[in-house]
Amino acid sequence: MTYQFPHRPRRLRSNPAVRALVEEYRLTPADFVLPVFITDESIPTEIISMPGVFRWPLEHLQDQLKIWRDMGIRSFALFPKIDSHKKDVTGSEILNPNSLVYRAANALRNSNLDILLIADLALDPYTTHGQDGVLDAKGNVDNDRTVEVLANASVVCADAGFDWVAPSDMMDGRVGVIRSILDQNSFSNTGIISYSAKFASSYYGPFRSAINSATIGKTVDKKSYQLNPSNFKEAKRELWLDFEEGADMLMVKPAEPYLDVISYASKNINLPIAAYQVSGEYSRIMAASQLGWLDWKSCALESLVSIKRAGADLIFNYFADRIAPDL
Ligand code: PBG
Repeated sequence: MTYQFPHRPRRLRSNPAVRALVEEYRLTPADFVLPVFITDESIPTEIISMPGVFRWPLEHLQDQLKIWRDMGIRSFALFPKIDSHKKDVTGSEILNPNSLVYRAANALRNSNLDILLIADLALDPYTTHGQDGVLDAKGNVDNDRTVEVLANASVVCADAGFDWVAPSDMMDGRVGVIRSILDQNSFSNTGIISYSAKFASSYYGPFRSAINSATIGKTVDKKSYQLNPSNFKEAKRELWLDFEEGADMLMVKPAEPYLDVISYASKNINLPIAAYQVSGEYSRIMAASQLGWLDWKSCALESLVSIKRAGADLIFNYFADRIAPDL
């Protein structure tokens, strides 16, 4: 029995060649920013809650970046794991030009690797309480004092050799202040990729243990600055504010739970839109794979292409180095 259907969409899916021909979105390693954890310890250590992701000693960093660069990954965001004894309540280590992350940038600046080096700009790796800011007398995160420290730290980043800074703190007004202090210090070519719509997500847990951010096992409450996952209007407002303050790229974070926000930003704002597929989005796939319940690679590809389809121009993600060779 054969019907005379006017439409047979399956013709476009009937073999691999035609499927490849009509494929609408294709991931490439050039889309990816690989977050890289760095450490003062002497050997690479795998992060227990992020199987396949390591903290890298500085001595290994250059060779490792070359391996990733040869896979086509060209952009890297560095995250330091700071020794507990260097942390304090104000996170003052962020202004120490000899601190781990600045030594890393310094070591890489003459490497000829032709890569983009991004500094995540926030206080949480450096504070004993794990908040992304300086606290006031009542224990609340003090917006303007935090902005001042971050702005000063952005100059230390640029001075150390970072090409871009990525403020990930969600303080009000910080993008504008960072832009002007960079310009005043002759760093007008240093770009700002702003974590604009960053939600108070439960998916950051594995990252916080990766950098040994305070109070493992206890959740640090960041709801007074990160967005409520329910709030779309407020996310749009944050995106536009960072646009007006002069950010060069805007980020939505986490990624897959917020595809609507990515889609809005990409349709409405004429800046590159970044998405950050965060540690928990990575770990849930890896954990299910370890249980034999999911195939991690095909899930990773499906998740990443959904983020691209929603409108992300670039994607921070921890799978990048494992999937780039297959793309
Ligand atoms: C800190 C920062 C966080 C992440 C990136 N920068 C954690 C947080 O806000 O608590 C999360 C990244 C991830 O989970 O992969 N400012």
